[in-house]
Amino acid sequence: MTGDPDGMLSWDESVFRDESVFEVDYVPETFKHRESQLESLKYALRPAVRGSRPLNTVIRGPPGTGKTTAVQKLFGELGVEAPNVRTVRVNCQVDSTRYAVFSRLFQSVFDYEPPSSGVSFKKLFEQVSDRLVEEDEVLIVALDDVNYLFYENEASDTMYSLLRAHETHAGARIGVVVVSSDLSLSVMDELDSRVQSVFRPEDIYFPPYDAPEIVDILRERVERGFHEGVLSAPELDRVAELTADSGDLRVGIDLLRRAGLNAEMRGSRTISEDDIEEAYERSKYVHLARSLRELTDSERALVRVVAEHGGEQAGDVYDVFHEETDLGYTRYSEIVKKLEQLGVLETEYADVEGRGRSRSLSLAYEPEAVLDRLE
Ligand SMILES: Nc1ncnc2c1ncn2[C@@H]1O[C@H](COP(=O)(O)OP(=O)(O)OP(=O)(O)O)[C@@H](O)[C@H]1O
Ligand SMILES: [Mg+2]
Repeated sequence: MTGDPDGMLSWDESVFRDESVFEVDYVPETFKHRESQLESLKYALRPAVRGSRPLNTVIRGPPGTGKTTAVQKLFGELGVEAPNVRTVRVNCQVDSTRYAVFSRLFQSVFDYEPPSSGVSFKKLFEQVSDRLVEEDEVLIVALDDVNYLFYENEASDTMYSLLRAHETHAGARIGVVVVSSDLSLSVMDELDSRVQSVFRPEDIYFPPYDAPEIVDILRERVERGFHEGVLSAPELDRVAELTADSGDLRVGIDLLRRAGLNAEMRGSRTISEDDIEEAYERSKYVHLARSLRELTDSERALVRVVAEHGGEQAGDVYDVFHEETDLGYTRYSEIVKKLEQLGVLETEYADVEGRGRSRSLSLAYEPEAVLDRLE
């Protein structure tokens, strides 16, 4: 950067060279420290290029470890190099039922959305399969964030339909890549036995990045995203250290962007340690924000009730929840379970005088942080 030697930005200057590299959906140019995972996934998908069904795969790993990026990278390559392979990544946080997943497949195959009502699942499935056979295409479906299909009890049906497509629809060739960031969820064990008997997946694990790997990865973002000299090496180390605490690379990327904005706010052309620490107070919640983003109204209602009645007995929380939403105990229990698996709620059993053992609910984060992000 040119200009003032006193380190202050002028009106038409920015610390950012390209702020878009810090966006959530930015696909990085280079993808380091995931060579062996990419190789394994490539190996599993390779048969599709020859016109055969690919090996089914389960990808597991904590949040922000590059699972989605790996799928996007290889799907991108297949799109260029293998005209007879169709790839579809379904975001199950958004499409969390079998019907929604197949609507997404339909949309990819036909280039328009299926009618929103009046089409049976069977019909939808048939049209997709027939088209694949007609076009002589192999379909690879990535069920990204598949844990959401499990939370809605839709995983087994969805998988069963996909895995048996070649039996129910002659000539259809479909492979499945299942991606889960919920390590407490054992994908195989949670599927029905009828699915287990036809599902023999390759397993690929994405471990958290360690601090030196994070530095290496983030350095490239910094070079693309900021002007030269904006972030010094010790500051980058600090960002990596904070990122390694959570293990989620998204924290680091968000942290860089916010720290840059903080520096700009001060009119400074360099990012200071304080800019980073201040940014971290928000960036450490990226995972929470993502978990809350796609919740339904009743799920939000429960989060709000727990935020306002933290630590109380589950029964009391239910009473308030029921009053507000009119929903019954079964639905309430399902929502508690989902929010617990998402890491938003924590449940604890304690002995309560006169009531025996009883369950209490609380938030896994400070209530204000949660309420803030629930808007
Ligand atoms: N090796 C890498 N090099 C560059 N950027 C990376 C790398 N790994 C991850 N990222 C970036 O980190 C962010 C999170 O990665 P990604 O979305 O692939 O994680 P994930 O494992 O799918 O997480 P989740 O389970 O929460 O969905 C993305 O912005 C991605 O660009
Ligand atoms: Mg992902």
